[in-house]
Amino acid sequence: FLKKVCTLTAAVSAAAMLSAGAVSAKNFKIAVGDSAGSPQEATGKFFVEALEAKSNGEHTATLFLNGQLGSEQDTVNEAAIGTLDMSLLAINNVTPFSPTVGVFTLPYVILSLEDAETLTQGPIGQELTENTLRDAGVRIIAWTYTGFRRLTNSKKPVEAVADLQDLVIRVPKNEIMIETYKAWGINPTPMAWSETFTGLQTKVVDGQDNPYMTINAMKFYEVQDHVTNLRYIFSIEPLIVSEAVFQNLSEEDQQIILEAGKEATLKSAQFLRDSEAAIKEELVAKGMKIVDPENGEAEFIQLATEAVWPKFYDSIGGVEKLNAVLSAIGRDPV
Ligand code: MLT
Repeated sequence: FLKKVCTLTAAVSAAAMLSAGAVSAKNFKIAVGDSAGSPQEATGKFFVEALEAKSNGEHTATLFLNGQLGSEQDTVNEAAIGTLDMSLLAINNVTPFSPTVGVFTLPYVILSLEDAETLTQGPIGQELTENTLRDAGVRIIAWTYTGFRRLTNSKKPVEAVADLQDLVIRVPKNEIMIETYKAWGINPTPMAWSETFTGLQTKVVDGQDNPYMTINAMKFYEVQDHVTNLRYIFSIEPLIVSEAVFQNLSEEDQQIILEAGKEATLKSAQFLRDSEAAIKEELVAKGMKIVDPENGEAEFIQLATEAVWPKFYDSIGGVEKLNAVLSAIGRDPV
C-alpha cells in the first residue's frame, strides 16, 4: 500500500511540475515590420536566442515577419492594450504615440552608428524609454541599428533638392518626416509601411526612403532604380514589449527579458557593421544606381535643420532636450 501511495504521490507531483511548467513557459509573439534578412529580423533572432538561453529553454518567442500582424503603427496600439506581446518597428512609427522620441527622427541629428549607440544606450535612451512607457504603454527593451535612410526612386538620379521637385515620395505617417520633405519643397505622401511596396510597384508613388539593408530585404530594387545617399535620418528600430504583458511576468522573467534585450542591442550594432557594405554592393549588382547628393548634401542639410528643428522643440520636450542630445554626441547646442 505504501509503495502505491508513494508512486501516486510521485505521479501527482510530476504532473504538478509539468502543469506549472506549462503555465509559466511562454512563447511570446513578436510582430516584425520588415522581411527576412532585415536588421529587424536579426535583432529579433538575437533576442529569441538570448531569451531561450537565459531562461534555460523555458521561454521562447516567435517572429511574425513582414507586417503579418498589422502595420507598424497598429502594432503599437495592439501592444498598448496587451493583445500583442512585442513588436519590432522603426522609431518613426513610435513617435506618433510618444512625441519625445521624435528627437531621434529630427533630420541630421544622429550622424553615425556611434552616435546612435551613444544615445540609445545612455541616459537619453533611458529617459525616452520611460516616456514611451508613460505615453504609449509600451517598454523599449532593445534597439536595432539599420543605417541611414537613403532616398530611392524609379525615375531619375536625384543629386540636388531641385531634382526632387517633380517626384511623389512616400513617407511614414510621421510629422517630422513630412515637414522635412516640405522644407525640401515637395508635399510627400504619408503611407503605412505595410502598403509601401505595393505603392511603389503600382506607381502610386515614385520613391521612398529607407536604409540599404531595408531596401534589400524588402526587395525594393525590383521596383526602384535610383538611390541617393542622403543621411538625414539614421534609422533606429526598437523592440517594444507590451507593459501589460511585462507586468504579468515574475520579477525574474522581467530581468531575463531586459537582459536578453541588452544582448540583442549589442549584437544588432555588430550585425550592421558586418553587413552594410556588402549589402550596398549587392544593390549595385542588382542594378541600382547610387549617387551622392551634391556639395556634401549642404542644401538638404541647411533647409531641413533650419525649417524643421524649431517646429518640433515643443513636442520633443523643449529645445533643451535637443541640446542634451547634441551635447551627448559632442556637437554644439543650437
Ligand atoms: C517606415 O519607413 O515606415 C519604416 O522605416 C519601415 C521599417 O520598419 O523599416
